Amino acid sequence: MDYTQFIDEQKKAISEQVSDEKVICALSGGVDSSVATVLAHRAGVNVENYFIDDYLRKKEEYAFVRDTFARLGIKVELCDIQDEMMGALEGVSDNTQKRPIFRKVFYGAFGRIVQEKGVKYLLQGTIKADRKMFERGQLQHNVGIPFQEYGIEQAVEPLTELYKHEVREVAKLLGLPPEISERAPFPGPGLLIRCLGEVTREKVDLIREGLAAAEEELAYLNPFQVIVAVSDTLVCSMIDRAVPDKYMLIIRAVKSKDAMTAEGIVPSQELKDRLEERLMALGKVGRVLWDPTNKPPGTIEYI
Ligand code: XMP
Repeated sequence: MDYTQFIDEQKKAISEQVSDEKVICALSGGVDSSVATVLAHRAGVNVENYFIDDYLRKKEEYAFVRDTFARLGIKVELCDIQDEMMGALEGVSDNTQKRPIFRKVFYGAFGRIVQEKGVKYLLQGTIKADRKMFERGQLQHNVGIPFQEYGIEQAVEPLTELYKHEVREVAKLLGLPPEISERAPFPGPGLLIRCLGEVTREKVDLIREGLAAAEEELAYLNPFQVIVAVSDTLVCSMIDRAVPDKYMLIIRAVKSKDAMTAEGIVPSQELKDRLEERLMALGKVGRVLWDPTNKPPGTIEYI
């Protein structure tokens, strides 16, 4: 593909679609939404970027996104829906219910912004793999959205014909820094899909801290993605066998090109020991399990 031509075509398509109207961008800081917003900015479109903090993001994610885009001269506003999201998920332990709840609260928030601002358009970085997985029956948070129900007239989606590795090429050509262009994918529903059973702040906090440690320790293997999931069932520790009060953290790192298939990484004993020590030090962790399951037959994420 000629990526320079792609950039020119998409800039033209975006400005034709929205003309001089304002656009709201759902900017998570992943490579897809970052490329979408930079394309729109370069197309000269009036874009307002919002980072939705729903409590399900990585550690210090808003600060990273805000500061990275500030260096590119792009402002990112914070929309805090932590209480709303965690409230909606409270008591929900059925894993099939969680994505639909997430989607409703997430797009509800964008619907409110769009209506408050009197805007018609929502810009988002949906890519080809999202569409493909949706077509295969996997619910994707950003595909098949009944936008009108949320008061959003139209979505602007310049990347639906690209896979992740192609989006990275476009990101580099647009001059995005490697912290963005080479960023590991992170799912729209965030840490929600790594939380087995009810999603609680305590479980999300553990995953968030565990993920920061695991990503650091595994970086030298250049994985496509690192996953830390948390169990629902509690287990014992040596301190008090009568009270199973510790979680199991499940660690997974995969190699992949486009997320359609993936190869689970088997860690060395040394790496396993080092990371286990860091994760146990978080407290509340009673077991650390490694999961090198390939896709297929597994999926990359847990839920
Ligand atoms: P799976 O688990 O299906 O994941 O093997 C493949 C890739 O998609 C990401 N993923 C999602 N991304 N919304 C997203 O934006 C979702 O609902 C979703 N589910 C999975 C996952 O992180 C991996 O990169």
